[in-house]
Amino acid sequence: AKMRVRDALRVQDARGECVTVQGWIRSVRSQKEVLFLHVNDGSSLESLQIVADSSFDSTELTFGSSVQVQGQLVKSQSKRQNVELKAEKIEVIGDCEAKAFPIKYKERHPLEYLRQYPHLRCRTNALGSILRVRSEATAAIHSYFKDNGFVHIHTPVLTSNDCEGAGELFQVEPSSKIKGPKESFFDVPAFLTVSGQLHLEVMSGAFTQVFTFGPTFRAENSQSRRHLAEFYMVEAEISFVESLQDLMQVMEELFKATTEMVLSHCPEDVELCHQFIAAGQKGRLEHMLKNNFLIISYTEAIEILKQASQNFAFTPKWGVDLQTEHEKYLVRHCGNIPVFVINYPSELKPFYMRENEDGPQNTVAAVDLLVPGVGELFGGSLREERYHVLEQRLARSGLTKAYQWYLDLRKFGSVPHGGFGMGFERYLQCILGVDNIKDVIPFPRFTHSCLL
Ligand code: 4AD
Ligand code: MG
Repeated sequence: AKMRVRDALRVQDARGECVTVQGWIRSVRSQKEVLFLHVNDGSSLESLQIVADSSFDSTELTFGSSVQVQGQLVKSQSKRQNVELKAEKIEVIGDCEAKAFPIKYKERHPLEYLRQYPHLRCRTNALGSILRVRSEATAAIHSYFKDNGFVHIHTPVLTSNDCEGAGELFQVEPSSKIKGPKESFFDVPAFLTVSGQLHLEVMSGAFTQVFTFGPTFRAENSQSRRHLAEFYMVEAEISFVESLQDLMQVMEELFKATTEMVLSHCPEDVELCHQFIAAGQKGRLEHMLKNNFLIISYTEAIEILKQASQNFAFTPKWGVDLQTEHEKYLVRHCGNIPVFVINYPSELKPFYMRENEDGPQNTVAAVDLLVPGVGELFGGSLREERYHVLEQRLARSGLTKAYQWYLDLRKFGSVPHGGFGMGFERYLQCILGVDNIKDVIPFPRFTHSCLL
């Protein structure tokens, strides 16, 4: 029977079962009497050891080739693995030209080098582990929300709104103008979504607790280690939420529950990242998981930063956005425990955030979660649910006409509500300790780069 490598490796008490395994050769070791191969099919970090006798012709069995091996699954003599496959038949499916293959046998290539080969880098241990963790984390996030009574919503990728109002939209038109009197396909400007939040707000007005998890797009002219033009965002929206406290609790729980699930489902993959990609990350992650996240206000954050302003290229100032260097400093200042920063100046934030009645003047009930190594991981807020307040804010920004439907939500059974978005790639960077965001997404898109 055909078997995946992962399942073969898990057989506790192998007794010569006849199995067929398919995959790519990760190592070849030829001795006088025997030939050892390691075959990997991407189902696990570990490869399956194949033992063949010297009657097999090894010339075609080279690193990177795809093979099908038929044989008997037996207990291994060596302590390094449980089982091995005693080969009876080895077929090369596709050979691999070693000279031209950018991945070299027995070499640990830097992630930066591998980035040049988005079509081949998934064959390495490092990218294999990262992308398996990505897959497990995706499933964990869905299961967290399912277990907690959230309905999953497919929010649209094409939209006519600019949720964040930050002017980072990709506009969409058909590649060749359609025939007819109309100039544009939708008659209104259409964009790739920057956030599904506004659509989620519609849905939280019916399902109470909703989430979405999909691609979002931002034309950010930034070559940073934490920005992409296409990234995945996890967004939740919750009705009948009256305080940031309630939101922060969900954010912290989502982070911790997801991470615990990932750690239990693919410990070897996480371990590989912690060992070879970010030495020391294991302790840092445990530290994050076992401590309660901290909370400070934006105003307090500015005070803390002002005390240390000699450290920064940008001088911190109330009313100005926090820079990455400020965010990283704040996290260190908080002992490398994730920290929520709340109540930002209104002028820094989009129209939908709820104005604070008490507390510092001219602030909104916004919350960002800052984490070690990355800085901002989550952004969220209470939403302005009061019809007249929202009406005034929209009018001030000249958005009244475009957001009539959004105002409607405040007219027909409005409720206090709030939500947040978590950058999924930044989450992976944070738990795995991967320095560059381009290494945690299969096919990164960023300024001047859209390979494949
Ligand atoms: O803070 P942001 O812009 O918040 C929103 O879009 C809200 N509408 C979300 C909501 O409340 N439903 O983005 C949320 C998160 C950021 O904290 C960051 O982690 C990530 O998305 N992010 C990016 N990740 C990678 N590349 C980019 N260009 C990103 N821009 C934001
Ligand atoms: Mg933000």
